[in-house]
Amino acid sequence: MGFPQRRMRRLRRSGTVRRMVRETWVRPDDLILPLFVRPGRGVREPVASMPGVDRWSVDRVVEPAREAFELGVPAVILFGLPEGKDEEGSEAWAEEGVVQQAVRRLKAELPELVVVTDVCLCEYTSHGHCGLLQGERVANDPTLDRLARTALSHARAGVDWVAPSDMMDGRVAAIRRALDEAGFDDVSILAYSAKYASAFYGPFREAAESAPAFGDRRGYQMDPANAREALLEVDLDVAEGADLVMVKPALPYLDVIRQVRERVGLPVAAYQVSGEYAMLRAAGMQGWIDERQAFLESLTAIRRAGADLILTYYATEFARLWREGL
Ligand code: PBG
Ligand code: ZN
Repeated sequence: MGFPQRRMRRLRRSGTVRRMVRETWVRPDDLILPLFVRPGRGVREPVASMPGVDRWSVDRVVEPAREAFELGVPAVILFGLPEGKDEEGSEAWAEEGVVQQAVRRLKAELPELVVVTDVCLCEYTSHGHCGLLQGERVANDPTLDRLARTALSHARAGVDWVAPSDMMDGRVAAIRRALDEAGFDDVSILAYSAKYASAFYGPFREAAESAPAFGDRRGYQMDPANAREALLEVDLDVAEGADLVMVKPALPYLDVIRQVRERVGLPVAAYQVSGEYAMLRAAGMQGWIDERQAFLESLTAIRRAGADLILTYYATEFARLWREGL
């Protein structure tokens, strides 16, 4: 046999052959679409730092959800902008809060859609931190009760999964206990287990008006330098009763996704966050990269690393391309 003996390029010769030997697929079923809900009526308000992403009033939030669902995206995750903020973030658990109203509406109009809610206080507190303050510190244990109340209010509205993103210790157990005591043992918990203190959340904080008024989140979110610690976080959340675990952000943390995937039997989600989206979109709008290929490559890489599910602002766009045969 002549040199080279093994010609790897043979299986790359055509699109058909490449599809046959492709190891990793992204399907619409793997995706969760984030949606921002705001007060008002008839509103669809663009987010400047995330072109293509909007904030919807409750009466219109079914529109993007239906579009995604009809294209095959099974789930959305809701973030709320409240009417008003206070020290405690009390609108987070208001029965008539925007998220609670949006959940009811979505479940009434699209009963098969899986509705997930982000559970945190930062969009609701006047200081923008994810928990209650004691002086300048975010107090862990007093926050747990507020998070549990928030999750419970979402459950009463009919949510399928709650997703705590605050990074307080013990929150998954506190939420699980509160849900079970109230009879919501069928509501799942998607834990933001390995959530890093990341600069890539910048555009989200503009969209959700949730930037901290002072300091940063490094006292509760994870240090980007740490991977072993992510596994500990995951172990704790699994022990506390998480049904799914998450790594966030996604693309800069592929090694963490892989290690978490190998560690647990539960489904693993990864969040392609606002900054990841904004970078791709901005470079694409400038003509500096082929945005479509770049986001498809990113989603594939996140799946290849081991994520079962991906939260992505590209969910609807991906599903449209999928329908066209990619
Ligand atoms: C709330 C929350 C944030 C994100 C998800 N839930 C922001 C933060 O922690 O500051 C980020 C999502 C994104 O950037 O797309 N705690
Ligand atoms: Zn928060």
